[in-house]
Amino acid sequence: MKRIETKQRAIKLFLCVALVPHLSQCAVSHKVAVIGTGYVGSVLGACLASFNHKVICVDTNKEVIEKLKRAEMTIYEPGLEELIVATTKNNCLSFSDDAASAIRNSDILFIAVGTPMDESGNADLKAVESVARTIGENLNGYKIICTKSTVPIGTGAHIKNLIAEHSKDRHDFDVISNPEFLREGSSVHDFMYPDRIIIGADSERPHRAIYDLYSSWYDKKVPFLFTNRESAEMIKYASNTFLAAKISFINEIALLCEKVGADILKVAEGIGLDNRIGPRFLVPGPGYGGSCFPKDVEAILFKGNQLSVDLKIAHATRESNCAHKLKVFDKVARLLNNDFTSKKIAILGLTFKALTDDVRESIALDFLEKLTKNGALVSAYDPEGMPNTKKLFPQITYTSSADDALRGADAVLILTEWDEFKLLDLVRVKELLRQPILFDARNILDTTVLKELQFSFDNIGNATVHRYKNS
Ligand code: UGA
Repeated sequence: MKRIETKQRAIKLFLCVALVPHLSQCAVSHKVAVIGTGYVGSVLGACLASFNHKVICVDTNKEVIEKLKRAEMTIYEPGLEELIVATTKNNCLSFSDDAASAIRNSDILFIAVGTPMDESGNADLKAVESVARTIGENLNGYKIICTKSTVPIGTGAHIKNLIAEHSKDRHDFDVISNPEFLREGSSVHDFMYPDRIIIGADSERPHRAIYDLYSSWYDKKVPFLFTNRESAEMIKYASNTFLAAKISFINEIALLCEKVGADILKVAEGIGLDNRIGPRFLVPGPGYGGSCFPKDVEAILFKGNQLSVDLKIAHATRESNCAHKLKVFDKVARLLNNDFTSKKIAILGLTFKALTDDVRESIALDFLEKLTKNGALVSAYDPEGMPNTKKLFPQITYTSSADDALRGADAVLILTEWDEFKLLDLVRVKELLRQPILFDARNILDTTVLKELQFSFDNIGNATVHRYKNS
């Protein structure tokens, strides 16, 4: 079922990217500025430009802007490069480091700058606040300011005050919340085919304008939900916390499966067939990572604490994920008889999930930390994640192929579900390894073949995995 979903997604992504080059000149329906060109802003800008709006993407990082002007990608995101090339060609999309001029020349402004977690667990709003001040200083007419960055509930009101404080001419403006639900690795697809659009505003004017911005593209099946700003901000945090809880739940059940002889993949399938539960985000693994779930669970807990609301489930989700990551490492330690000293360990997969170059809060980083501390010699390979990991762990060996990482290793750990790892020839893997010890944290390798080849192996939740050739 998962394979069919992935194939459908790839076809739909191909169709929407292929359509853009056929658009002639930009029709300039809306003039949009997207401030921040990271994983969210660059996808948002390119996708809105493909809807035929005139979009300017802004960033303070001149180097990033120069690269994007040359259509050189600064992040890895399937389909994004093609969209940027097509939409810059038909003049719908441009890039600039001049925020003031972009703000003055646009009527809808999206704030898509980073909101990393600060030491207290709250979102760090420095970048958002700085953008709000610049918007205030350059407000030259009615504008809608829309937060795409994930910001704590109530930040919209704070942004509104900051803009008003810094605006001299007292022009009218609205600050709204229009949260994004894009997943890295499938952001372009998710933008083009959303489950819903949430528009949180205090009046009808911005509700209508943002509806108009999107509705030319989305067919009637995409539900639009109009709320007040706080509800929209809350929907974002509640969605991510709920999804994180769903993953933690299945990971706990996976460990219980191991004790009772149940198979987590069958159990997850059986649970997911209940329409009230659904099959998605029930894939067991090494624990959730990435730049969103850990940070957003932390931020909702911070808000709960601030307002004396005890968010027990969010709390348990965080605890469960931390505990799960430790238990997964224990499984690896058991496979290696708790002895890592001078063992050569091959790691396949460094990113927090497949189809991204992002390693933020990736389980691989925890593993690298522990393995290197315990005296292991690590050789790692990832199709996209090595440059970002190198910045944090320069001391390990990075190889240019899975084979090179595996050669002469005492064990291999599969940490990310990249397609090329699913297709590993296990006979060759065994030949390359010094000892046939394998840990599959993503349940992607055929367990019958692993048994036949007499690997000493483990995965998550006693899963029986069947992988058919040429499928
Ligand atoms: C997540 C949400 O899914 C998006 O809707 C949201 O827009 C985004 O955060 C955000 O707030 O910006 P993302 O972090 O890119 O997206 O990636 P996910 O696909 O959600 O995966 C997050 C983590 O959960 C990964 O480590 C992944 O391996 C893990 N995961 C996911 C599982 O272990 N099991 C699953 O069934 C699904």
